[in-house]
Amino acid sequence: MTGLKRSHMCGSVTETMIDQTVTVMGWVQRRRDLGQLIFIALRDRTGIVQIVVDGNTAQKTLFEKAQTLRSEFVVAVKGKVAARTEENINENMATGKIEIIAQELKILSESETLPFQIEDSVTVKDDLRLKHRYLDLRRPSQLKNMVLRHNVVRLIHSFLDEEGFLEIETPILGKSTPEGARDYLVPSRVHPGNFYGLPQSPQLYKQLLMVSGMDRYYQIAKCFRDEDLRADRQPEFTQVDMELSFVDENDIIDINERMMQKVFKELLNVDIALPMKRMTYQEAMERFGSDKPDIRFGMELKNISKVVEDTEFGVFKNALQSGGSVRAINAKGCGGFPRKQIDSLVEFVKTYQAKGLAWIVVNEDGTLKSQIAKFFTPEKLQQIVDIMEGKPGDLILICADKDKVVFDSLGALRLELSKRLKLTKADNFAFLWITEFPMLQWDEEENRYVAVHHPFTAPMDEDLQLLENNPKAVRAKAYDIVLNGYELGGGSIRIHRREIQQKMFELLGFSPEEAQERFGFLLDAFQYGVPPHGGLAFGLDRMIMLMSGATSIRDVIAFPKVKDASCPMTDAPNVVEQKQLEELGIAIKKIESEQSV
Ligand code: AMO
Ligand code: AMP
Repeated sequence: MTGLKRSHMCGSVTETMIDQTVTVMGWVQRRRDLGQLIFIALRDRTGIVQIVVDGNTAQKTLFEKAQTLRSEFVVAVKGKVAARTEENINENMATGKIEIIAQELKILSESETLPFQIEDSVTVKDDLRLKHRYLDLRRPSQLKNMVLRHNVVRLIHSFLDEEGFLEIETPILGKSTPEGARDYLVPSRVHPGNFYGLPQSPQLYKQLLMVSGMDRYYQIAKCFRDEDLRADRQPEFTQVDMELSFVDENDIIDINERMMQKVFKELLNVDIALPMKRMTYQEAMERFGSDKPDIRFGMELKNISKVVEDTEFGVFKNALQSGGSVRAINAKGCGGFPRKQIDSLVEFVKTYQAKGLAWIVVNEDGTLKSQIAKFFTPEKLQQIVDIMEGKPGDLILICADKDKVVFDSLGALRLELSKRLKLTKADNFAFLWITEFPMLQWDEEENRYVAVHHPFTAPMDEDLQLLENNPKAVRAKAYDIVLNGYELGGGSIRIHRREIQQKMFELLGFSPEEAQERFGFLLDAFQYGVPPHGGLAFGLDRMIMLMSGATSIRDVIAFPKVKDASCPMTDAPNVVEQKQLEELGIAIKKIESEQSV
């Protein structure tokens, strides 16, 4: 026991408390010795307060103890709040007008020298930060993200409660039904050779809750996907997951728009105008080459296939003949890019499978320069420039290939240019719904159709008749909410009729037996009165990342994983004892590297 009881948090000691005696506890941010005066910046979650130990008035033992303090020692201080003298006032600190004159000081624990300083201005290597994540979280920016995350979740709970949702937990140990990403598996001890699958989302449980008549469900749900990590992807992440009965797309979109509006207003004081913009998948691809377009800037794609259809330029001709297209963007004002920079753009699109990138520079005098000029008449080149609304000083970038490659390449190039040209601001929030997604897409590797959203998504009513003969053309009642080029959430109206669900499994290449084996519990439930239903899930981590201006979801997760899905702090995953494996009936076939032994 300290013998001292905390009366205030460091950041809450203010001018109104002058002459009061307070007790604060926290970490030593800094100690400054000025002869007979020692200043200690004491930090807790709420802020920093200045402690003064005055050698002229304080007890000798107190003064000597203060002299031993080092960074990150944890101490308790009792003292009197005093106004700072005029010249010592620090307007940058919430507590900058006062200080606490120490009367008692107790060291609660000491600290070794830290591997890095607890300051935002100090750049620290990611691995080191995450190895000592408990220290990294002491930094103000990281703390701020945790506070924001807490507040977002708090508001979501209260909003959905008011809208009549029930919060219901669903199992983490479930059945493995891989469709999309790979499942994480947990071996069963009681049933050797059998495995649970960790949920990629609570999708099937929430649909079954609708069958149960829960009407409106939500959950802040942990989800697990064994997929490659990126800045916006973790193997373990959190969804704000919901499902509603007797609703259509507009009902779901409306609730979620209002939820976002409330969260952004209350926590960031940002006004989100409703209704949010909507765009069909087709339009998003045509204009932005992406189903999650960043609409904060233009540079839209245009299809120039028609203009160049009679060309003899092999690259364009081949693309068009094999059913592809020729599309372009106008990088306004980039005509002065040095050749090296243009070449780097050509290299950039190659990572998206493009075979090349053609360019036209509109010179300041209106003449044109292009590496493909020799294949076109000057009139033709000018025609392309006109379609692209090219003005002196512009750079037109053209890609010819299969649509997918053209969209991927120009879509990514657009984002890359916006980064290089600093066209966007993180605190400008451009929400957008993407609707009318295709239901299915052909998977070359698996040689079968896969569901674009998931196999439980309902086809659009007007496309139902295409299911049989032209499944590729069927659009789904699916919608994504996109923010600044990120897919923030996605959902759909579900199939609630057993025979259509069975038809869908058939289209996805499952035999009736396979469908029954994997999803029998859903098909069985669909025999007993199913309300029409639909829902959506937000990626909570992505939401907090965008709200906080962080560039990776790692910064908004208390204990994230690194690129190879490991945790540098705990060393998870790791080997387990032989006895544990034996209990599970598991033998390890081969260990790949020395390191993992
Ligand atoms: P979906 O698979 O689109 O839909 O996921 C919903 C949202 O979850 C977030 N997300 C991720 N965030 C971090 N790391 C990941 N690895 C990761 N994967 C997905 C994204 C995404 O938009 N059950 C359906 C929802 C529904 O239909 O109701 C689902 O899971 O922000
Ligand atoms: P090539 O005839 O292959 O040397 O290409 C001539 C020019 O066209 C080169 O500068 C390439 O960068 C460009 N190019 C090549 N492939 C494509 C493509 N698929 N789309 C647009 N431009 C291309």
